[in-house]
Amino acid sequence: MARFAGKSVIITGGNSGIGLATAKMFAAEGAQVAITGRSQEKLSTAKAEIGGDVLGKSVDMTSVEAIGSFVEDVAAKYGKIDIVVAAAGGAVVRPFEMMDEALFDEDLDRNFKGAYFTAQKALPHVRDGGSFVFLGSAAGSKGFAAMTVYGPSKAALRGLVRSLATELSPKGIRANVVSPGPIPTPGMDRLGLPPEQIEGVKQEFVRQVPLARMGTVEDIANAITFLASDQAAYITGTELAVDGGHAQV
Ligand SMILES: NC(=O)c1ccc[n+]([C@@H]2O[C@H](COP(=O)([O-])OP(=O)(O)OC[C@H]3O[C@@H](n4cnc5c(N)ncnc54)[C@H](OP(=O)(O)O)[C@@H]3O)[C@@H](O)[C@H]2O)c1
Repeated sequence: MARFAGKSVIITGGNSGIGLATAKMFAAEGAQVAITGRSQEKLSTAKAEIGGDVLGKSVDMTSVEAIGSFVEDVAAKYGKIDIVVAAAGGAVVRPFEMMDEALFDEDLDRNFKGAYFTAQKALPHVRDGGSFVFLGSAAGSKGFAAMTVYGPSKAALRGLVRSLATELSPKGIRANVVSPGPIPTPGMDRLGLPPEQIEGVKQEFVRQVPLARMGTVEDIANAITFLASDQAAYITGTELAVDGGHAQV
């Protein structure tokens, strides 16, 4: 029996990288999925790759109004929502002294505010016993130079699931965070660094990670789908690091 037959799942950032791999995994195991992204073109390609009747919408995750409108579209199409995966986000590399207010707000809003309000807007439609999974990062618990907003924004998600797990437990709704280590995705190529430096960053990651490789998007999707599934029925408020040991040793 498919683990997610009859379930409806929101995956923000589902048109790319980790979110897309996760959407494919949920759909392959029977779920109806709804995805967001920014690029309409990538949304169309992702919908075709996922297959079936996917709801895909371009949503600016820094706009609470846009997030609310997307959630209403999902509820109108699928009714109750079972699982919400907040995967939209990404890092920008910028030295502390060069961080300006506009970039600070953008980085924090994309990674924390967007995920926060995705959960809040979805909650009235989430079935009792449902599940929230947020995308944290090794950078939420390990220091990285020039990631002074991204890292704390992911640490904030770690804090958020502690509160949500407590507050939503009367409804049987669970909240957890999956924290990836380095995963080659389009996002890694959008760190704001020239291509030759990106290659150096990747090599340095492999050198630092105890398992001596970068992870795959499937490594992360496996953890997300596990936490969203009934196999994780007694797990809430926790962080599952999927980082080859990067931030654990
Ligand atoms: N890859 C890694 O090494 C790594 C490590 C730790 C944590 N993570 C986290 O994993 C998640 C997925 O990242 P990824 O590596 O899969 O990157 P990705 O391929 O770039 O995917 C990021 C997704 O978020 C969307 N997005 C970004 N900013 C947005 C905004 N302001 N409004 C709406 N949508 C926005 C992107 O939409 P468009 O593509 O249409 O712009 C895309 O769908 C992120 O939360 C990231 O922080 C990644």
